[in-house]
Amino acid sequence: MSSERFLNDKQLKKLDRELQNLISRIGVDRKTQDEVFDRSTLRTFEKLISNQVLDILDFPISTGKEGNVFRGVTPQGKNVAVKIYRTSTSTFKHMQVYIVGDPRFSSMHKNRRALIYAWTKKEFKNLERLERVGVRAPKPIICLNNVLVMEYIGSSDRPAPLLKDVVLDKPDEIFETLIDFITKMYKKANLVHGDISAFNVLFYRKKPYIIDLGQGVLIEHPNAHEFLRRDIHNIVSYFNKYNITADERQIYTDITGQQW
Ligand SMILES: Nc1ncnc2c1ncn2[C@@H]1O[C@H](COP(=O)(O)OP(=O)(O)OP(=O)(O)O)[C@@H](O)[C@H]1O
Ligand SMILES: [Mg+2]
Repeated sequence: MSSERFLNDKQLKKLDRELQNLISRIGVDRKTQDEVFDRSTLRTFEKLISNQVLDILDFPISTGKEGNVFRGVTPQGKNVAVKIYRTSTSTFKHMQVYIVGDPRFSSMHKNRRALIYAWTKKEFKNLERLERVGVRAPKPIICLNNVLVMEYIGSSDRPAPLLKDVVLDKPDEIFETLIDFITKMYKKANLVHGDISAFNVLFYRKKPYIIDLGQGVLIEHPNAHEFLRRDIHNIVSYFNKYNITADERQIYTDITGQQW
């Protein structure tokens, strides 16, 4: 992409035409276009399409503060979830606290785009870790710049709902599973999610899936234990509404061998 600044006017016009074609192929409305599809993101899509990772984006699943998630379709007709981190927002500042102190990203550049790309990669790597240790989460497929392609969780016409939007038949089981996921993440994947709540768990075919791993940190991170306590607290307090009581301090000690 470094050749970008050497393009002459004619080449630039050609590029713009191609991008416009791409936008109509992807089929998104004007507002979303302006929000997420800056030129570099479109070029990333161009690559994903030419590398046969993706054919189209068929509908938006969610518009968040830092990015958008779309349902995509591969050339083989398989559904995927496509998360696009916006490179143009100012909320990227909060990302820094999770990246500084993570040895995997110590050589990170200071500029925003590089930070967003590193963040996307971090989410991808964290999803790989979860897959390795058997914590249920979307399987990572590919990550390129600010675009993450992963397994789509949901039926053909509807993405899976969030845990906060479902009524559970067997809350005890789901609670146990989530605590087991947090434990496995810590003990086997050396990872703390950092933002677990009923907003970041999908519920599909009676099973929970952990999502939104961008802010996940290694346990060496200076704030890892604080994040872990918060994660445990979020889950324990959410399940209070199902009359499930658990000692969050004890759970923390069981996981880490340390006092709260
Ligand atoms: N693999 C997936 N399959 C189906 N839906 C998904 C998938 N990943 C994410 N989603 C949907 O997209 C939403 C946003 O995803 P995610 O939580 O990863 O991003 P976010 O950065 O937290 O966005 P927000 O700012 O809205 O919190 C989720 O709440 C969920 O509804
Ligand atoms: Mg989220």
